[in-house]
Amino acid sequence: MFIESHEGPTLPPDGHRSREGGGPDDPVPLPQGSPAVRGDAALVLAAGKGTRMRSSLPKVLHRLAGKPMVARVLDALTEAGFGKPTVLVGYGAETIEREVGDRCVYVVQPEQLGTGDAARVGLEAMAPAPKRLLLVHGDEPLIEASVYREMLDLQRSTAAVAVLLTTLVDDTRGFGRVVRDREGHPAALLQESDLSVEQRSLNEVNLGAYVFDVDFLKRQLGRLQPHPPKGEFYLTDLVAMAVEAGECVIAHSIPGGVDVMGINDLVQLEQASRSVYRRTNHRLMESGVTIVDSASTFIDEEVHIEPDTVIHPFTIISGRTIIGRNCQIGPYSRIGTSHIGDACHILSSTVTDTVVEDGVFIGPYAHLRAGAQIGAGAEIGSYAEIKKSSVGPGSKMHHFSYLGDATVGKNVNIGAGTITCNFDGVNKHQTVIEDGAFIGSDTLLRAPVTVGKAAYTGAGSVVVRDVSPGTVVAGVPARPLEKKSRDESEQLQPSDGGEQSR
Ligand code: UD1
Ligand code: CA
Repeated sequence: MFIESHEGPTLPPDGHRSREGGGPDDPVPLPQGSPAVRGDAALVLAAGKGTRMRSSLPKVLHRLAGKPMVARVLDALTEAGFGKPTVLVGYGAETIEREVGDRCVYVVQPEQLGTGDAARVGLEAMAPAPKRLLLVHGDEPLIEASVYREMLDLQRSTAAVAVLLTTLVDDTRGFGRVVRDREGHPAALLQESDLSVEQRSLNEVNLGAYVFDVDFLKRQLGRLQPHPPKGEFYLTDLVAMAVEAGECVIAHSIPGGVDVMGINDLVQLEQASRSVYRRTNHRLMESGVTIVDSASTFIDEEVHIEPDTVIHPFTIISGRTIIGRNCQIGPYSRIGTSHIGDACHILSSTVTDTVVEDGVFIGPYAHLRAGAQIGAGAEIGSYAEIKKSSVGPGSKMHHFSYLGDATVGKNVNIGAGTITCNFDGVNKHQTVIEDGAFIGSDTLLRAPVTVGKAAYTGAGSVVVRDVSPGTVVAGVPARPLEKKSRDESEQLQPSDGGEQSR
């Protein structure tokens, strides 16, 4: 028996795709296909070196749009309902285990004797043996969970011994091809080197993902013959063997072409990364985010951006970053794992692990990192670096300054060249600058130290002792001048670098 599936899956009986929760008006997306069930297991083949990558890094650890390929495969499997997939490792096993962690079970393939051998080693290590096996190549990171669910559905509704996954592409380079019989049913999977002259024009490629009936696998894996010259066992041979034995094999052909194809070399990795970034950018633009130049904008899939924000060219946004409405981000900005409020500007700056409230202006050339927190309406200017510090609402730090381990209150002015000397060579110390303080240009604050409310430091001060609220200090080391009102102090310090206008 042969059953074909081009495009969509065979649907489960009516009622299966029921809505979950929500009233009739809620647009709850319908799940595509059914998730894995008891008796299903997933095996990821990742033991090969990936010779064509010309790299010492195990192939599956190469990052596709910021995330290792194998992590992408595991994400999709988890989403498809597989609890703890098995990952077959060999080359660089320890590196892979270190990087990927304990979200899967590792099985070592002692010798890389081909995908057929890999399937056998992986299956033998699974106890208890599953009834169905979803086997996927670790270098096929673009297949979505919904496709796996469709394959599981197809297997269930047809009782096929194997469901394979294919797509049509122009550039078939490096991929196995699907050979179909006169009726269009799959007859064999052939490797590029084994194709006849006529077969070379076949443009349906094997994507390296299968749902197998495990009884069938157990019967047939041991019968695979090694291929010269390397003596490798090809998993793909199982298709012709099943057909010969009169068993049901199904090819699930999905659209997508190069956008779903796996990666064999660094050129394909770059193409795949681009298609993932393009997909993310499209999704964001459809939700109301302006992206001025998609080709120079790299945004991770986890990033959330509210409508009416504009992303300017040459901008990279990664990790679990959230950006509010009406922001202007870039050009030339890098934001990683940060929370940015509404109406912020981030121009030519690097911002990582930072929380920024509404209406903040950052840049150009600022560096915020490691737990920086910037209050509403604050202004952080050129060559400002802020680490593990909070800056209160309305405060300004416009020109080349460093804040490390500092707590800055609201409406504080940090003059050009101010530095918190937070590190004594052994330990880090805290600096506190209270509300309304005015830190003159080129002030060094030797931590631990506190500058009180509305206090003033003169240009070039080296502050080594706490400054009481409302006091003016100056000099090296800084000493209090007489107590003055702020207006008088401004007259006293005419060259204080305080011109904080942009
Ligand atoms: C294989 C398929 C090809 C398909 C392509 C899609 C075979 C013989 N060919 O070719 O039809 O178009 O994948 O991705 O199956 N691996 C192991 N142990 C081994 C050998 C390989 O774990 O002994 C792993 C690799 O790490 C890799 C995957 O299996 O993740 C596929 O191996 P690879 O050498 O890349 O196969 P292809 O030549 O791409
Ligand atoms: Ca491959």
